[in-house]
Amino acid sequence: MPTLSSRAGRATLGVLTLTLSALTVVVAATSTPVRAADPVTVLSSGFEDGTVQGWARRGTVEVVENSATVAHAGTRSLLTSGRTASWNGPSRDLLATVTRGTRYTYSVWARAAAGAGSVQLRMSVERRWQGTANYEQVVNSTTVTDGGWTQLTGGYTLANDADFFAVYVETVSGTASFHIDDFSLSYLPPSPIQTDIPSLKSVFANDFPIGAAVGRPQLLAERGQLLAKHFNSVTAGNAMKWDATEPTEGVYTWTDADAIVAFARANAMKVRGHTFVWHNQTPAWVFNDANGQPMTATAANKTLLLSRLEAHIRAVGGRYADDVSAWDVVNEVIDENQSDGLRRSTWYTITGLDYIRTAFRVARQVAPKAKLFINDYNTNVQAKRDKLYNLVAQLKSEGVPVDGVGHQQHGNISWPTGAETDSMIATFLPLGVEQQITEMDVSIYTSNSESFTTPPADRLASQAARYKAWFDVFRKYKANITSVTLWGLADDETWLDSYPVSRKDFPLLFDVQLQAKPAYWSVIGAASPTASGPASPSASASPSPSPSRSPSASPSPSASASPSPSASRSPSASPSASASPSGSQAPASCRVKYTVTSQWNTGFQGDVVITNTGSAAVSGWALRWTFANGQVINQSWSSVYAQSGANVTITNAAWNATIGANGGTASFGFLSSWSGSNTAPVAFTLNGSACTLG
Ligand code: XIL
Repeated sequence: MPTLSSRAGRATLGVLTLTLSALTVVVAATSTPVRAADPVTVLSSGFEDGTVQGWARRGTVEVVENSATVAHAGTRSLLTSGRTASWNGPSRDLLATVTRGTRYTYSVWARAAAGAGSVQLRMSVERRWQGTANYEQVVNSTTVTDGGWTQLTGGYTLANDADFFAVYVETVSGTASFHIDDFSLSYLPPSPIQTDIPSLKSVFANDFPIGAAVGRPQLLAERGQLLAKHFNSVTAGNAMKWDATEPTEGVYTWTDADAIVAFARANAMKVRGHTFVWHNQTPAWVFNDANGQPMTATAANKTLLLSRLEAHIRAVGGRYADDVSAWDVVNEVIDENQSDGLRRSTWYTITGLDYIRTAFRVARQVAPKAKLFINDYNTNVQAKRDKLYNLVAQLKSEGVPVDGVGHQQHGNISWPTGAETDSMIATFLPLGVEQQITEMDVSIYTSNSESFTTPPADRLASQAARYKAWFDVFRKYKANITSVTLWGLADDETWLDSYPVSRKDFPLLFDVQLQAKPAYWSVIGAASPTASGPASPSASASPSPSPSRSPSASPSPSASASPSPSASRSPSASPSASASPSGSQAPASCRVKYTVTSQWNTGFQGDVVITNTGSAAVSGWALRWTFANGQVINQSWSSVYAQSGANVTITNAAWNATIGANGGTASFGFLSSWSGSNTAPVAFTLNGSACTLG
C-alpha cells in the first residue's frame, strides 16, 4: 500500500498472551465454514445503580466516583478526577472474569469532563506474574471531548501466566478529568477449525515452507490447532524484537519467544527470527549515551552503540542458534529518497553503514546455522528495490555475510500486481541470494478512509485473486524463494487493525472465526466453495449455514473440465507438461504409497510417494492407475495430471523428473472428487512397469 512508505514509528508492546480455556473442543468433521455465533458479554458496567461497580483508582489520590452529571445511556457514568499523573484512572480487576486464550472485545464509551476540552485517552491492560508487571494497549490513543461520547474498542487475549489482570483507562498525557460509561467485555465463542481441508504446508510441500507470524495467543486452543495444521514455519510477530527481548540493558526476557520456539519444535516447524535491528520497537536506552542523554554522532557513541548491538545479537541469536533457520538481521534500512538509499535512522546517524556490517558479522558468528536476511517493505517499487539491490551488492562485495533478501509483501487487493511481484523477484536473481516472502498480507482497503466491519464479498474475491497472482509468481520462482510467510494467522488478529489507521481489516487466509476464506481456496489452487454463492463472511453471518457451501464444490468434476485457474496456470505444472511426454520413459522398478490425507463430503486430498526400487535412475516418469468409484481429479501439484474416464496418468513436474536409483523418491499431491465410496487404487504402473505397494 502506498502509505507504507510513510509509516510512523510505533511504540508497541508485544502481543501477549496465553491460554487455555477449559472448553471442550468439539471437532466437527466439516469443512463448511461455521456461521458467526453471537458475542457473549461477560461483564458490563453501566453505573446505573449509583455505585462504581468494581472499578477503582489505579493511583492513590485520584477520585473515581459514580456521577450523574452526564451519561452515555441512562443517567449515570463513572467520573475520574483529581488525577496527578497520566497513568491515574479507573481500573477494573478481570482476573477471575477472563479465560486465558480467549480473545475478548473491550469496549467503553468515554468523554472529557466539562471544561476539559479535548483529551487523548487510551485503554490498556495490566498483567502481573510473580511481581513483574506488563502493560499493553488494547485501544491506542483516541481523542475524546467534553462535548459528546466516543467509543474505544479493541481486542485482547490474555495468553501469559497472570496473578493479577486488570483493564484501565488513562490519558496519553496530562491530568484532565474524564467520564467512562457502558463498558463491556465480550467474546465470540470459538469455532472448531476445519480439519478436513488441505493443509497449506502439504499443498506447498514441494515449493517452499509456508509460515505465519504469531504471538502467544496463536499457540493456544483452536488457533494453535490451525497454526499446526497449515504452517511449517513460524515468525514471532513481536516477541523477538528488541523491546520484547531486552527492554532494559542486559536484562533479557525470553518468555514469549521461548513459547513460540517450543511450539515450533513440538510441531516440527521452522522458525524465522525477526528481527535484530530495526528503527522501531527499540527501547530508548539503546540510543542514549553514557550519561543517559540521546546520542549525538561521536566516535565514543558509535563504539557504545555497536557494542550494545553486538551484545544484543550475541544474546538473542545465541539463545536460538539451534532453532532459527533464518534471521531478519536488519529490517527496513532502505530509504529510496536518500541518494545513498539508506534510511536516516539513529542507527545510521551514529554508525553509518557499520551497524549493518556488524549485525551480519556477529549474527554469522553466533548463529552459524541461520541464513541471514536483509528485510524490507515496498521492494516491489522499483526505486526502492534498486537501492536495496545496490546495498546488498555492496555488502556482498565487502564480504558481509548476507544470504538473502526478505520481501515483506504487505499489499492490498489491487497492489502490487503479479507483474510487479515478478519483477521484484527477478531483480535480485543476478545477486544469487535467497529470497523469502516474510510478512505477506492483503488489506481489503485501498484508501485510509474506507472502513468495513464485515468484509464485502467483492473485496474478498479481489483479495483471493491478488493472493493467487502472487502465489503464481512465488511458485514460478520457487527455486529462488526459500520461504513464504503471512503476517498473521487469521483475521481475528492483524496488525492492520491499527495500521495505518484504526479499523477492522481482513487481510489473511482465514477469517475471524478461523475458517478458510476465498483467498485460502485460491491459494491452494481450488475454486472457492463460496464462489457461486454468498462469500463466506456473509454466509457465515447468515442464520443457517447451507450444506451446499462445502468445499466439495471446489474439487468438483466441473472445476477440472473448465479451465480452472489452478489447473491452467499452475507454474509448477506447466513446465512438466512439455518436459515429460508420458510413455517415452524407460521401464522402472517401483513402489507406490498412496495416502488419502483428508476427505470431506465429496472431495479428498491424496498424497503419493513413488520410490525407485531399481538400480538405475528414472528420468521422466508417468504413473498410472484406475479409479474404482468414479473419482475425478481436479488439481495436482508437483506433477501434471490427466484423466480419461477412470484412468489417471500423472506425469512429473520439471523439477522432479529424476528419481534417484536404489530408493530415490518423488512425491506429489492432488485434489479429487468422490461420491459413494472412495476406494484407494491398488494397481500402479510407473513408465509401464507394475509397482509394489507401500
Ligand atoms: C508489527 C506487529 O505485527 C505489530 O503487532 C506491532 O504493533 C508493530 O509491528 N513490518 C515489520 C513488522 O517488519 O515487524 C511489523 O510488525 C509490521 C511491519
